[in-house]
Amino acid sequence: MHWEELTKEEDYQVEKLGIEDLNSCLELDKLTLNNFWSKNLWEKELKNSESINIGIKEGSNLKAMACILPVLNEYSLTLIAVHPSQRKKGLGTLILAQICKQAHKNGLSKIILEVDEENSAAIGLYNKIGFKTVRIRKKYYRNGNNALVKILDLGVFFESQPNQFK
Ligand SMILES: CC(C)(COP(=O)(O)OP(=O)(O)OC[C@H]1O[C@@H](n2cnc3c(N)ncnc32)[C@H](O)[C@@H]1OP(=O)(O)O)[C@@H](O)C(=O)NCCC(=O)NCCS
Repeated sequence: MHWEELTKEEDYQVEKLGIEDLNSCLELDKLTLNNFWSKNLWEKELKNSESINIGIKEGSNLKAMACILPVLNEYSLTLIAVHPSQRKKGLGTLILAQICKQAHKNGLSKIILEVDEENSAAIGLYNKIGFKTVRIRKKYYRNGNNALVKILDLGVFFESQPNQFK
């Protein structure tokens, strides 16, 4: 389903997250990523004017979130998560496409990320958007798993999908 149709039909709102969303972010982080960031880190992230933090809400309930941070001349995708009850409905695609759009508007040309080689859902999502694996970091995670380093060229992304994601 086209993501614009999805937002209309299901009445989701895509918005920038701010410090007022701190508790919702902490809850969703706990539920989806086992407290990836502490409360302090979330506060810093939500107050950081350089980073882009986007949420998808249904009413006041946060259903998905994604964050990118500029590092030198590219953005790093630091976090993306969808509420377990809302997965496989396109919300991951929607929020990633939205954050790409914001990154492109801000003039940076690439988004880089690391993903556990066994996280097939996240890898499927990144491949669907067009991220390419450029390196493998051996035994990068505490559990001994390798990390795939993946990059999206935003210029190529928007040129190749002019109608779908603009
Ligand atoms: C990764 C995640 C964000 C995907 O969100 P989602 O809303 O389910 O994703 P979408 O519905 O937009 O699916 C997009 C693509 O991802 C892939 N995908 C999603 N779930 C998948 C699964 N369980 N297994 C394999 N591929 C999957 C598919 O390729 C899918 O495309 P398709 O629907 O055309 O087949 C979600 O599973 C999640 O929150 N996981 C836990 C947090 C996490 O691991 N984040 C990444 C590291 S920070």
